[in-house]
Amino acid sequence: MSVTREAWGSTPAGAVDRYTLSNGHGLVVRVLTHGGVVQSIEVPDRDGGTANVALGFDTVQGYLDNPGPYFGAIIGRYGNRIAKGRFSLGGVAVQVPVNDGPNSLHGGTPGFDQRIWAAEVRDGALVLSHVSPDGDQGYPGTLTVTVTYSLTGDNGLRIDYHATTDAPTVVNLTNHSYFNLAGEGSGDVYDHVLRIDADGFTEVDATLIPTGEIAPVDGTPLDFRTPAPIGARIRDNHAQLLRGGGYDHNWVLSGPVGELRDVAHVAEPRTGRTLTVRTTEPGVQFYSGNFLTGAFAGTSGRTYRQGDGFALETQHFPDSPNQPRFPSTELRPGQAYSSTTVYIFGTHS
Ligand code: BGC
Repeated sequence: MSVTREAWGSTPAGAVDRYTLSNGHGLVVRVLTHGGVVQSIEVPDRDGGTANVALGFDTVQGYLDNPGPYFGAIIGRYGNRIAKGRFSLGGVAVQVPVNDGPNSLHGGTPGFDQRIWAAEVRDGALVLSHVSPDGDQGYPGTLTVTVTYSLTGDNGLRIDYHATTDAPTVVNLTNHSYFNLAGEGSGDVYDHVLRIDADGFTEVDATLIPTGEIAPVDGTPLDFRTPAPIGARIRDNHAQLLRGGGYDHNWVLSGPVGELRDVAHVAEPRTGRTLTVRTTEPGVQFYSGNFLTGAFAGTSGRTYRQGDGFALETQHFPDSPNQPRFPSTELRPGQAYSSTTVYIFGTHS
């Protein structure tokens, strides 16, 4: 296990470093202090070749010019959407930025994806930290956050999130990596075979806000309990797919919330690469890169078009602060928010 640091440009918010984590078993992950961005993930394929399977840019400027897709970034304070950017906390109305149609998305502008994170190497892990002041983007309480990236011996990228507050608030942290297991910039991911261990999903309205209903996946194109290619049903005339322009939904994961468990698996047929997702979270946003338009080039110099990457964003459910039946995202002084997700890269024959 090794971690090295290099200077990697600057933003108006300050100098940016890039850390390279390597586990000595073929997994090499590069992380920026800008946004805590996972800039690249190099992993072996079935035949011993190596490719970068994470979408991103090869300069800091790329991330500054194109913040919209949130490539690889830490998302906070609230990953996913809050309806109209409004909720009530202890009877007090809170307004956070509206930056996605009528709603708030991914913590506002600038969210945690645009901050320069303090970095420290501890026991072979990269510990990023950030103090979000009281009132930051409208969110109450001073939120002290650490996000720790470490590599496991079985080619896992492990992400541990931790946060505390000095006043009641809400928090929902995630990482917004997009993967293409055939290699970033190699085309669409529609032949990747996906399994998600979920019997239901949070049904959404036209602005992608949950209606409050947990709809069964049974009989819908959102049923990935049996592995299926991402593209097999993506053009089905199903109301939920029409709303997302493809897959852009929160699946209600099976298994005990709070325990690290396998929740999703992806296999790429050509290179044989696989991705297993493990998490303690109750949900995952499976997003099939619907809003990638080919308007910019990524790390390899090739443009990213619709479907050229997918994200599996582990999370609490969207709009939880307005949905009393969803698992709570409230955090109070004296409590500790903690969440773990591991992305494990392997191969199949
Ligand atoms: C959202 C998408 C959004 C994407 C990039 C995803 O988490 O669900 O709707 O386009 O992030 O912003």
